[in-house]
Amino acid sequence: METGTAGVESSPGSGVRPPGGASWWREGVLYQIYPRSFADSDGDGIGDLGGIVDRLEYLEWLGIDAVWLNPITPSPNVDWGYDVSDYTGVHPDLGTLADVDRLVSEAARRGIRVLLDLVPNHTSDRHPWFREREDFYVWADEVPNNWRSIFGGGSAWALDADRGRYYLHNFAPEQPDLDWWNPDVRREFEGILRFWLDRGVAGFRIDVAHALIKDRELRDDPVTGDGLRNVYSMNRPETHEILRSWRALCDAYEPSRVLVGEAFVTDVPDWARFYGSGDDELNLAFNFALVHAPFDADSLRSVVSATEAALPDDARSCWVGSNHDIGRMTTRWCGGDEALARCALLLLLTLRGTPCLYFGDEIALADGHVPPERVRDVTEPSRDPCRTPMPWTPSGGWTDPWLPLADTTRNIEDERSDPESTLTFTRDLIALRRVLPDLQAGAYRELEAPRDAWAWERGSGVVVVVNLGREPCDIDGVDGSIALATSRTREGDRASGRLRLAPAEGAVVRRG
Ligand code: GLC
Repeated sequence: METGTAGVESSPGSGVRPPGGASWWREGVLYQIYPRSFADSDGDGIGDLGGIVDRLEYLEWLGIDAVWLNPITPSPNVDWGYDVSDYTGVHPDLGTLADVDRLVSEAARRGIRVLLDLVPNHTSDRHPWFREREDFYVWADEVPNNWRSIFGGGSAWALDADRGRYYLHNFAPEQPDLDWWNPDVRREFEGILRFWLDRGVAGFRIDVAHALIKDRELRDDPVTGDGLRNVYSMNRPETHEILRSWRALCDAYEPSRVLVGEAFVTDVPDWARFYGSGDDELNLAFNFALVHAPFDADSLRSVVSATEAALPDDARSCWVGSNHDIGRMTTRWCGGDEALARCALLLLLTLRGTPCLYFGDEIALADGHVPPERVRDVTEPSRDPCRTPMPWTPSGGWTDPWLPLADTTRNIEDERSDPESTLTFTRDLIALRRVLPDLQAGAYRELEAPRDAWAWERGSGVVVVVNLGREPCDIDGVDGSIALATSRTREGDRASGRLRLAPAEGAVVRRG
């Protein structure tokens, strides 16, 4: 029996179209939701789609334009949704297709789009394809090369005892890689994309977008001083062809849909290739060079200037500081310091590009504490600390959550009513993007600044300054009034030629 979606009529679902505005993803703010940890509507300790619907009012209040949901499809959860066993269903823990339709239409009513996570590199070994469509996967009679699994670092080849052959798994053994040389795999995925887009989904975040195709001859990855250079096991040029075909598919929708890629490439010029000519491949790609840069002014500004130089005209980076893999920026970049976390928010939201906040960033949420007996993740070290539940209230707002919620000192309820809070700061910053068109579309130009500080202009009307050092510093050449500052009392102050910044302080200055 052949299973799949290519031959199946896709359902019109809710018939809802995401809110229009062809270039919303250029000006807007994305917000990543890890569904199990965001909000629980039925009290079973697992966040779900109903929980997201219940919090749409909050998301609208915050001012974001779109949510990206980590995988919601059925999965044995070896890798928490990234081992998909059915691409057109919904995991029963999270809800039903009807809940997706409800989420898409309720979100649209509030001007919020919904993006789903598409996992095309691999399936679960429990996906029916793995038994029924051997030709969908990458096989060899003997271990053919030196490729290593990203999870665990052992060989990326595992023996399938029934078949007496080896299959490729770039991640866990329970995540066999698909063979993207097979046209039937491509056809199936076109059907999967259409299935969700026809339901009114605004686009996809594409998991492991840089790795879909493997070297046809399965050649050894070259050995370097500190490991292997993944030039054959991933990062093949042919992957771009697939992304281009999906972009054409998305552009044929009205309104057109958006592709945001997890192209895990830190070499900036290589990363920029995922934008193709500028409008024929990914709409956005997460900027992993910035994610992995140390949080100092020199390192960050050199990534930004390399990014500006590498991107095709009109393309824009997707800036992130946290996600469900890398950890929360408040911990990772800022060592828990809330003032520095505000600086991180300030720069993500004011650089030229599209910011993607991870749920909790808006309150400078730090990584949670997950004791060894509560760890659920497949990787070592575990990624669970950045996946702990959203603290909605001073007591959490959860009953016996799937991952522990130990610290609720920073929580949404308290911060929402506090004009001095980081949540209010984030909301005001998002709102400022809307009223200052230079923050959305103005060109980026770096300005002179002392070593530990960073200053840039957006268009002709806005200057952003941030001091990431431990000493106060003066930024010269700044004239105008402070529209928003990490220390809120400074708002409205005027700078005439020189602006003094305390350590871990930043500001948006409106010229004139
Ligand atoms: C991506 C996901 C990560 C997952 C991996 C394998 O990197 O973000 O969570 O474990 O792909 O699917």
